[in-house]
Amino acid sequence: MNGITIALSKGRIFDETLPLLAAAGIVPAENPEKSRKLIIGTNRDDVRVVIVRASDVPTYVQYGAADLGIAGKDVLIEHGGAGLYQPLDLNIAKCRMCVAVPAGFDYASAVRQGARLKVATKYLNTARAHFAAKGVHVDLIKLYGSMELAPLVGLADAIVDLVSSGSTLKANNLVEVEEIMDISSRLVVNQASLKVKRELLQPVIERFAQAIPA
Ligand code: PRP
Repeated sequence: MNGITIALSKGRIFDETLPLLAAAGIVPAENPEKSRKLIIGTNRDDVRVVIVRASDVPTYVQYGAADLGIAGKDVLIEHGGAGLYQPLDLNIAKCRMCVAVPAGFDYASAVRQGARLKVATKYLNTARAHFAAKGVHVDLIKLYGSMELAPLVGLADAIVDLVSSGSTLKANNLVEVEEIMDISSRLVVNQASLKVKRELLQPVIERFAQAIPA
């Protein structure tokens, strides 16, 4: 496509990206929560939005199926960032990556005693790096969602997951025992698009930069 394709995921990232798009003069024609369409037009003939899974945004941009995308730092660490230019931390969709355990579990003692912990997570790279840096022995169990369930049914001793309000942990009687990192979403740009479509992309990137929430 000659124009700009922007890859976004539904939910918080889409909602919090709307003001940034508006600042760049781009208004999506539909809300993906209401429509099942995966390609959404905008008020600009040369700009369209594609709706993909959050963890797939870097892949679409890496291969140039989308020129721009917005992806969480959590997702970008797992993807690795190949082929992606990451010019802006947009300071949206903020949360934190944490280690959490059942309320009664003495995590500090288990770590001190050198116990080998089973940890369930969607974020293998982040979890591996975190526990390796701390010298904690872990067996990582890959899950794709609902990580909070794993310790409740004996699949794992702990989880590594995103925490925003903390209500999911609380509702499942889990407590946060370590913060691994703060998370926010970043603008990612296909490196080839940036060269070929610079006149189209540069103004959008600049408007986004000016509209980043404090
Ligand atoms: C995320 C995350 C937690 C929850 C945290 O899941 O994995 O489960 O939100 O939010 P809270 O602290 O405000 O309760 P999400 O709903 O995005 O679904 P996912 O499992 O598909 O990632």
